[in-house]
Amino acid sequence: MRLIRVRQIRLRLIRAAIAALLLSACPAFAEAPVVMAPVVIKFSHVAAPQSHKSRAAEHFKALAERYTNGRVRIELYPNSQLYKDKEELEALQLGAVQMLAPSVSKFGPLGIRAFEVFDLPYIFADYEALAKITEGEIGRELLDRLQSKGLIGLAYWNNGFKMLSANAPLRSPDDVLGLKMRIQASKVIEAQMWAMGGLPQVMAFSEAYHALSSGVVDGTENTPANMYTQKMYEVQAHATMTHHGYLGYAVISNHKFWAGLPADVRAALERAIAETTPVANAFALEENEHAMAEMKASGRTTFHEPTPAERALWIETLTPVHDEMAGRVGRDLIDRIYAATGRATQ
Ligand code: LMR
Repeated sequence: MRLIRVRQIRLRLIRAAIAALLLSACPAFAEAPVVMAPVVIKFSHVAAPQSHKSRAAEHFKALAERYTNGRVRIELYPNSQLYKDKEELEALQLGAVQMLAPSVSKFGPLGIRAFEVFDLPYIFADYEALAKITEGEIGRELLDRLQSKGLIGLAYWNNGFKMLSANAPLRSPDDVLGLKMRIQASKVIEAQMWAMGGLPQVMAFSEAYHALSSGVVDGTENTPANMYTQKMYEVQAHATMTHHGYLGYAVISNHKFWAGLPADVRAALERAIAETTPVANAFALEENEHAMAEMKASGRTTFHEPTPAERALWIETLTPVHDEMAGRVGRDLIDRIYAATGRATQ
């Protein structure tokens, strides 16, 4: 027994001596930094790999990995390959992924209804009006509300303004009567479809193409970029450029995860996000234009630009949804948006 202990002590001493010898023979070895495994951020989203959301995520990845000197590795998972719409939010809350960029129309089921204010038909006249919110105090306040659900809002990235599509021409709101319309999980979008007599069907983005092609639903609404990258235009013979609503994203993380990052890593990531936002918005504009040109050239869908009189009728039919949904998204919030964007009240 005693002999074994003596041998163990001798072995330890020999090992220590070898280590000391190595260090003295090679000072660089002594100074070599301890190599830490990088923090892995899984960034999941539902848009196609060739979408502007993917391009923005790739831009963010390059900046984030550069600014953190490789201390962070961003893994991108587009096209709902990890999770669909609702599941990805749950996965983020549980810490299975660390970043998402969902449409703000999808926060209602989490219990944060105020984001649905972005879905109110014709609330933003143009990108300038929209930026007053996404780049201002109201936008920041909305992102802060995510904390109550264990999330942190980091930025807004645009997609664009939506059109309505179906397999029959949609010249006026009456043409939507009785049509089953795929929508995102937003009560405001639901009310908007009811306002036209349509039958809203909440469905994950990844299921929209199949539902349209198999006739489970008759029509939908989306931006040109989404219509194009999901090939929805191939199964929708008509679309009307109503530009009735906005679709955009909040870049979000798990609050606990974000707060637990070393301060300098967090600052570097926040810098990468801030620098990506204008690039992401430029990609979105570019992709929406490109998508329109490609879809028109394909000849699969007939695009209708409403006349001024037709446009007036779309606005008249859809804007009562503001008052109808005021109880859900907040009258005060709607009025603050009217004031901030210079929009005339109802
Ligand atoms: C949709 O579900 O239609 C969009 O939110 C998808 C997306 O991420 O652009």
